[in-house]
Amino acid sequence: MESSPQNSPGSPGSPRQKDVNNTLKRFSTFWIGCILFVAFGLASLVLGIGFNKPVVNNIDKVNAKRRAMIKRGVDKSHAGAREKALLSFERVGSHFLNTAPAPDEKPEFVLPGSATQKRKASGGSGIVVPAGFPTVDPDAPVDVAVMEQGKAMFAICSACHGPEGKGMYHINKTGPPLANSEWVTGPVANLIAIQFRGLSGPIEVNGEKYTPVAPMAALPLDNNSIAAVLTYIRNSFGNKASPVTPEQVEAMRGELGKPMLSPADLIPPTAATGSN
Ligand code: HEC
Repeated sequence: MESSPQNSPGSPGSPRQKDVNNTLKRFSTFWIGCILFVAFGLASLVLGIGFNKPVVNNIDKVNAKRRAMIKRGVDKSHAGAREKALLSFERVGSHFLNTAPAPDEKPEFVLPGSATQKRKASGGSGIVVPAGFPTVDPDAPVDVAVMEQGKAMFAICSACHGPEGKGMYHINKTGPPLANSEWVTGPVANLIAIQFRGLSGPIEVNGEKYTPVAPMAALPLDNNSIAAVLTYIRNSFGNKASPVTPEQVEAMRGELGKPMLSPADLIPPTAATGSN
């Protein structure tokens, strides 16, 4: 069936066609379109600037706060973890120290004829004082020439014990003081043994604990030099004790070559303070 020209849209006689041909309508449609376009643009601008941006800013702020919070938490837990790690190191370390058996704890661990066996055989002090060890009168006069020689020898010692015998511990954690040291005025056998074997490990001197960074190495000089330097330190820096003789040093030669001493190996200084 053929449609009538009136009803056919787009045909020259249809209402649409008339609108298209109506200049006024075309003009107003154009402007309405423009206004709608601009309005839409403005609306999206308003929405975009007026609402979206602050929302984005807020999210940024919220995120920044979260990040700061998380960072604080992480920092805190790191700090805590470090403390915990240090604590557990300490715990594990002291556990090992307290539980680990010393290598020579069991007799079967000790090599026959070894220095350790000799030390254990000597009764544990580690220092063997021979039966005929020469004694010296506590009030025996001190030879000035020996003191001079001892002072010259003391140049070696002063590197770690200081020129005034006050020690260098407070400066570089090396030698503890010799002034007012109960070890210096104590048993002579200790002092000679220290020269022959060296000394290592935390030591208490005059009521103060010292943990030097390095042990004192053995300084096995000749009998005269050792006797002189020990006489010098026993009678300087305010110390007063019997002089040390080359014969006493000679009597302790058996110590030479034995392992380094620890303060626990020494004869307790109260045993013979002021003499030998
Ligand atoms: C390289 C540094 C150094 C030199 C050099 C040195 N000593 Fe020591 N001395 C030490 C240290 C460190 C100790 C403590 C050892 C320990 O138990 O850890 C010590 C300990 C001592 C002690 C017993 C602790 C005390 O303070 O009374 C005497 C005694 C001693 N030394 C005497 C001497 C004499 C004498 C000389 C020189 C012939 C000498 N030392 C040279 C570093 C040194």
